[in-house]
Amino acid sequence: MTNLFLDALAGKTGSRPPFWFMRQAGRYLPEYREIRAQANGFLDLCYTPDRAARVTLQPIERFQADAAILFSDILVIPHAMGQTVDFVEGTGPKLDPIQTTQDLLALDPGKILEKLAPVFETVRLARAELPDEVALIGFSGAPWTVATYMIEGGSTRDFNTVKSWAISNRQEFAIMLDLLVESTAMYLKAQIDAGAQALQIFDTWASAVPASDFGDWVINPTARIVSAVKEHAPEVPIIGFARGIGSRLPDYIRGTGIDAVGLDSSISLVEAANDIQPICPVQGNLDPAYLLSGGAEMERAVTDVLEALSGGPFVFNLAHGINKETPPAHVERLAEIVKNWDSSA
Ligand code: CP3
Repeated sequence: MTNLFLDALAGKTGSRPPFWFMRQAGRYLPEYREIRAQANGFLDLCYTPDRAARVTLQPIERFQADAAILFSDILVIPHAMGQTVDFVEGTGPKLDPIQTTQDLLALDPGKILEKLAPVFETVRLARAELPDEVALIGFSGAPWTVATYMIEGGSTRDFNTVKSWAISNRQEFAIMLDLLVESTAMYLKAQIDAGAQALQIFDTWASAVPASDFGDWVINPTARIVSAVKEHAPEVPIIGFARGIGSRLPDYIRGTGIDAVGLDSSISLVEAANDIQPICPVQGNLDPAYLLSGGAEMERAVTDVLEALSGGPFVFNLAHGINKETPPAHVERLAEIVKNWDSSA
């Protein structure tokens, strides 16, 4: 059975590019909001396999993407290590921030596989329901991005708390990254064992890392996860998505050992085609604002992306997650354009 998505990640150029969208399951879909309302909070939804699996499948039923992404969150890792994590309606995640060495040493990666068993069950249920030609993607956050939430206690604009903590407590921060490397590698391997056929590692806040620390905080921890996962399952492709890193992309790709790279919308299509696609398959990079806007502007921007990148190994995606105000009809139109694209024309 051919799978366009897995073929593209293996470096092949098919009859049309495969597609999926970051945050394709979520609040812009009325059928998501309905199941979300039945759950006792967001984390409860992540830990209730039959509901989480239904939410994983919703976007596939609606617009036949070539890949489904496990419905979970990057913050289940700190939660499973014992940190208090809460998702507050309207304000995003809230964590009891790690401030002292004692807080750090209280984190326990020892029971994460037990605690995250419902997530692996979601993977099994979703995989069992999906047609063969639709791949199932597992995911995690990258250590740096997860650490920002753990130390800031939630979302941040300036990253001052996590950066100054990491700089003034280098040894402790290295221990924290080690804990995240260890737990994330275990978590991703277990997702593969449950049925995930590809993985994406989200480093959403990589752009906040000083160039002088980029090797230690971004490349090295991700490289260690990639090599641990590859030792376990060399056949499973890994997509790295380090947002906003621009000129550091080639070093990130080569230094981490990822199989394919997600591009944000700061990368021009000329750069993507000439500088990145010759190194590895690329995924991206329609700005979600075009999808939110829809209409002729969206159609032109989508065509530009397809013309620039569909001649090589390419997965169509957005540059970041779908905005929650996006009309589902825009997403359906986008899916239709990609499905009708002829890469050989
Ligand atoms: O469809 C999918 O993409 C799969 C599920 C998924 C979610 N989060 C569901 C979710 C994935 C892959 C993520 C990754 C994630 N989570 C990232 C990296 C990708 C990115 O978006 O940059 C980050 C930084 C998080 C942390 C996180 N989770 C934040 C900051 C928030 C609140 C933001 C918001 O939009 O409210 C979440 C909550 C969250 N994760 C929601 C969903 C659908 C919304 C919560 C809800 O339904 O109440």
